[in-house]
Amino acid sequence: MSQAIAGLNRRNLLLSGASALGTSLALSTLGVRDARGDQVQPSIAASERLHFPENFLWGAATSSYQIEGAWQADGKGESIWDRFVHTAGNVKNGDTGDLACDHYHRYREDVELMRSLNLASYRFSIAWPRIQPEGRGAANVKGLAFYSRLVDTLLEAGIRPVATLYHWDLPQALEEIGGWTNREIADRFAEYAEIVARHLGDRVSDWVLLNEPFIFTWLGYYSGIHAPGRQSRADFFRAAHAANLAQGKGYRAVKSILPGARVGVAIAWMPMEAKPPADTAARDRAHSIVNAWFLDPPLKGRYPETVMDGELAQLMDLRDGDFNLTRAAFDFIGLNVYSRMLIGTPSSDEGLFGLRFNFLGGEAGAKTTDIGWEVYPDALYDAAMRATQDYGLPIEITENGAAYNDTPDASGEVNDRRRIEFYTRYLAALSKAIAEGADVRAYHAWSLFDNFEWAEGYSQRFGIVYVDFETLERTVKASGHWYARLARTGILEY
Ligand code: FCB
Repeated sequence: MSQAIAGLNRRNLLLSGASALGTSLALSTLGVRDARGDQVQPSIAASERLHFPENFLWGAATSSYQIEGAWQADGKGESIWDRFVHTAGNVKNGDTGDLACDHYHRYREDVELMRSLNLASYRFSIAWPRIQPEGRGAANVKGLAFYSRLVDTLLEAGIRPVATLYHWDLPQALEEIGGWTNREIADRFAEYAEIVARHLGDRVSDWVLLNEPFIFTWLGYYSGIHAPGRQSRADFFRAAHAANLAQGKGYRAVKSILPGARVGVAIAWMPMEAKPPADTAARDRAHSIVNAWFLDPPLKGRYPETVMDGELAQLMDLRDGDFNLTRAAFDFIGLNVYSRMLIGTPSSDEGLFGLRFNFLGGEAGAKTTDIGWEVYPDALYDAAMRATQDYGLPIEITENGAAYNDTPDASGEVNDRRRIEFYTRYLAALSKAIAEGADVRAYHAWSLFDNFEWAEGYSQRFGIVYVDFETLERTVKASGHWYARLARTGILEY
């Protein structure tokens, strides 16, 4: 793990100095609108200006199920998330994505909002059951037409579309045949990818195949807290291998139609730290299964040796020739980064996945976001450096952000200063990685909007734009104004 960045320590010193004096320096330099004058205290004192590369793309990310709503519109089929949220007890407060931000009907004003925030890139996902309601066969023309209109509107606004093909809303019909635990899913995914590439490929050049394959197989098939809610070690490993097959087949499907397209994956990358520090073997197993499990098979043609063994090969139904199928020469690696993970060795049982390690979360007493994830800016530095070292590919930050549940104040402003501080510190760490040679091309804030946060429902707000889920009104938060300025100048006031 890296050392703390010297600048961060200095900034922390500045911070404590500023609050002790009660001064209000530097807020305006961060572009925060100070609606109530001296009532707003500074949270960050800018002392440096960090310049990002000239062609760096500033963007934001969302996903279909989390924002679109319109869950039955225009011939869309049921997804595993539709089924999951409509089953009592699965989601906090019984929330569903039935309406969400109603982006399906409001995409024009939403793209206009993106333009006003100076976004150069927008990462969205395509809902597979809008395209193939039953997960196979002919395309649903109305579903394709929605994404076609969205892409046209983005291009008119000068925003690069980055299309994610799978952000967790599997057609329920495919779950009926085993979902991700059935190897056939890889062929279904390739068929779907080909349809979408054919239809949007004249206008979309940047593709993410799967969003966080580790997270959807772990939470969906092992812990059961996400759709489809299964709890089985065998299902997890089988699903993970099928996801690797799907990446390879999906990659070739897109490239066969669009040889010049840039195709990658979005990995939920968590830098791992051993706790106690001597347990490096447990740490390495955790790194392998979380960060490398969906990058080694496409890029190196094998599973990480720190974890792989005969028992797992059998469990996963690993067959001769499979690594020819999983191979995919990604054009870039997408990194979704939120925090690090401390790793401990279990004493008596076999630990997570039977791999003799446990996730311990962050440092006790550390600062967390409202969802409880440790604020650890160096995660972005560590992820970019390690991915560069291990794979040597261009990188896009496909997600990074924080849940802070600030709501509008009396004047209607959402003054989410903690989010500005979070972004500032993480981006400073990213800037250091770029300076040290990581070829990072783009950054996407998670998220453009407050939205449906999976099992947490609407209780966690990740947006730089506030959404009132009663009226669906959108309000740009202080962080959104701040981000718009950063996107315009490319200079981080730090
Ligand atoms: C990531 C998911 C994204 C969102 C953020 C907070 O794991 O890709 O959909 O839920 O976490």
